[in-house]
Amino acid sequence: MGPGRIQGRMYTLCGTLLLAGILYLNINSHNTISISIPIPWLQPKMGFVCTNVTHFFINADDGDCNKSSSASSLYLNGWNSYWLLGASATGKKDKVSKMLRRGREMGMMVCRTWAFSDGGPNALQISPGRFNEKVFQDLDYVIYEARRNGVRLILSLVNNLSALGGKPMYVKWANVSGVNVSDSGSDPFFRDPTIKRYYRDYVKAIITRRNRYSGVKYSDEPAIFAWELINEPRCDSNTSAPFLQTWIVEMSSFVKSLDKKHLVTVGLEGFYGPKTPKSLMANPGDWAASVGSDFIQNSATQDIDFASVHAYPDSWIPNARLEKKAKYLKKWVDFHISDSEQALKKPVLFTEIGSTHDSSNLLIKTIYDKIYESAQKEQAGAGAFIWQLMVEGMQEYRDEFSLVVNDRDNTNAFKLMIQQSCRLQYMFRKGKANTSSSVLGC
Ligand SMILES: *[C@@H]1O[C@H](CO)[C@@H](O)[C@H](O)[C@H]1NC(C)=O
Ligand SMILES: *[C@@H]1O[C@H](CO)[C@@H](O)[C@H](O)[C@H]1NC(C)=O
Ligand SMILES: *[C@@H]1O[C@H](CO)[C@@H](O)[C@H](O)[C@H]1NC(C)=O
Ligand SMILES: *[C@@H]1O[C@H](CO)[C@@H](O)[C@H](O)[C@H]1NC(C)=O
Ligand SMILES: *[C@@H]1O[C@H](CO)[C@@H](O)[C@H](O)[C@H]1NC(C)=O
Ligand SMILES: *[C@@H]1O[C@H](CO)[C@@H](O)[C@H](O)[C@H]1NC(C)=O
Repeated sequence: MGPGRIQGRMYTLCGTLLLAGILYLNINSHNTISISIPIPWLQPKMGFVCTNVTHFFINADDGDCNKSSSASSLYLNGWNSYWLLGASATGKKDKVSKMLRRGREMGMMVCRTWAFSDGGPNALQISPGRFNEKVFQDLDYVIYEARRNGVRLILSLVNNLSALGGKPMYVKWANVSGVNVSDSGSDPFFRDPTIKRYYRDYVKAIITRRNRYSGVKYSDEPAIFAWELINEPRCDSNTSAPFLQTWIVEMSSFVKSLDKKHLVTVGLEGFYGPKTPKSLMANPGDWAASVGSDFIQNSATQDIDFASVHAYPDSWIPNARLEKKAKYLKKWVDFHISDSEQALKKPVLFTEIGSTHDSSNLLIKTIYDKIYESAQKEQAGAGAFIWQLMVEGMQEYRDEFSLVVNDRDNTNAFKLMIQQSCRLQYMFRKGKANTSSSVLGC
C-alpha cells in the first residue's frame, strides 16, 4: 500500500454465500475512492491459458480447455521477479504493485515468481503443514495484484536450492522428526515417503487456498498461468535420475488431481540426460548429464503440459568469449525448440535467461530473436523470461543478473524487452482478426 492510502474493513453477511464479504475501501493519494470487494465475479475478466499440441492459447470459456474454439497461438514475453512474496511479507507491498505495473507497461504478460518460503524468517510454511496466515495473505496479495494489472504468474512450489528453505529444509524437517535421511546414493527429497508427503501437503494447501483479497480459490484463478513443481531440480548424481522422474510423474499427477484448470511444468534447467545421447552435445559440459535431470524424459511426463528451460551461458561456459556464448545459446535454444516440437509435442518456455555485465545485450537479443523466429514459424518456442527484474529499493534481493527497472545503465536492455513484447503482441493480435483488446504497453 502506498503512503496516504487508508484501508477500512467492514464485515457483511451474504446469506449462505461462503465468502465472508470483506469490504476494502481504499482512498488513494489522488483522493479518489475505489471499492474492491473480495467477490470472485467482480475481479477483472481473464481467460485461462491452455495448450493445443505445441501451442499456448487463451481460453475464453472459463477454464475448460476442451470446450474452447480455436484461438490464435500465444507467444509471449515474460520476466522473473522471484522476490514478490518476500517483499509483500516485509511491508513492501507497494514494490510488488510497482513491479507488476512496470512489467505490464513493458508489454510483458507473465511473471515467474516463488510461491514458497520454507522455514526461516517470515516463512509461509513454518514447519511441515503449518502456515503463517499473515504471510499467506501476503501471497494472496501478489496474486490479486497480478490479476488487477493484467499479468499472469508462473508459481514455483519449492526450491532445489537452499534459498528460502527449499529442498534442504524439507530434508532437515524429516531428519528432525526421526526419518533416516542419510544418503543411500539418491536424493531423499525425491525418494523418501515422509518428505513426499510434506511436499504434497504443501501443494494442497496452496492450490486449495481461497484468496482473501479476491475471494477466488487459487485453483480457479486465471491470473495463474501455471504451477511449477520445483525450481531447477538436480540430484547429486545420475543414480537419482529414476527417483526424480518418478517424483515428477507422481507430483504432476497430484497437482492435476486438485486442479484441472491450470497448466503444470517441471522447472528444469533443461539438461539432456544419458538416455538421449544425440542431444548431449547441446549440454554445456559433461557434468550436465549427471545431475539426474533429463529434459526429454522429464518433460514427456503425461501431466506436464509444457517444457521449461533455463539459459545461463555466463555461468555455464564462463571462460568463453561473448560471441562463442551467443553461438552456444543459439544451439541450446534450437535443440530445445526442435525437441519440444518433434519429440515432446508440447510448447516450451525459456523460463530463466540470465546474462551479466554485457552492455551489448547480445545474449538477450539472441534468445529474443530465436523466440520471434519460432513465433513467425508457429513453432513450439513460445517465450523467454529474463532473470530477473527489480524495482528500486529492493537491493537485498539483488544478484549478479539483476536489472533494476528505471536504472539508466540498463536502458538498452529495457528497450529490447519492450520491443520483444510488442512484436509478439502485434503478431498475436493479427492472428485474432476481430479482437478488441488493446496492445498493452506498446
Ligand atoms: C479434456 O479432454 C481430455 C481428453 O479427451 C480429458 O482427459 C480431460 O480430462 C478433459 N479435461 C477436462 C477439464 O474436462
Ligand atoms: C488445435 O489445433 C488444431 C490445428 O493445429 C485445430 O484444428 C484445433 O481446432 C485446435 N484446437 C483447439 C481447442 O483450439
Ligand atoms: C540429521 O540429524 C543429525 C542429528 O541432529 C545430524 O547429525 C545430521 O547431520 C543430520 N543429517 C542431515 C542430512 O541433515
Ligand atoms: C540409515 O540409512 C542408511 C542407508 O540407507 C543405513 O546405512 C543406516 O544404517 C541407516 N541408519 C539407521 C540408524 O537406521
Ligand atoms: C540442487 O540440489 C543438488 C543436491 O541436493 C545440488 O547438488 C545442486 O547443486 C542443486 N542445484 C543447483 C542448480 O545448484
Ligand atoms: C551417469 O552418467 C554417466 C556420465 O556422466 C554415464 O556414463 C552413466 O551411464 C550414467 N548412468 C546412468 C545410470 O544413467
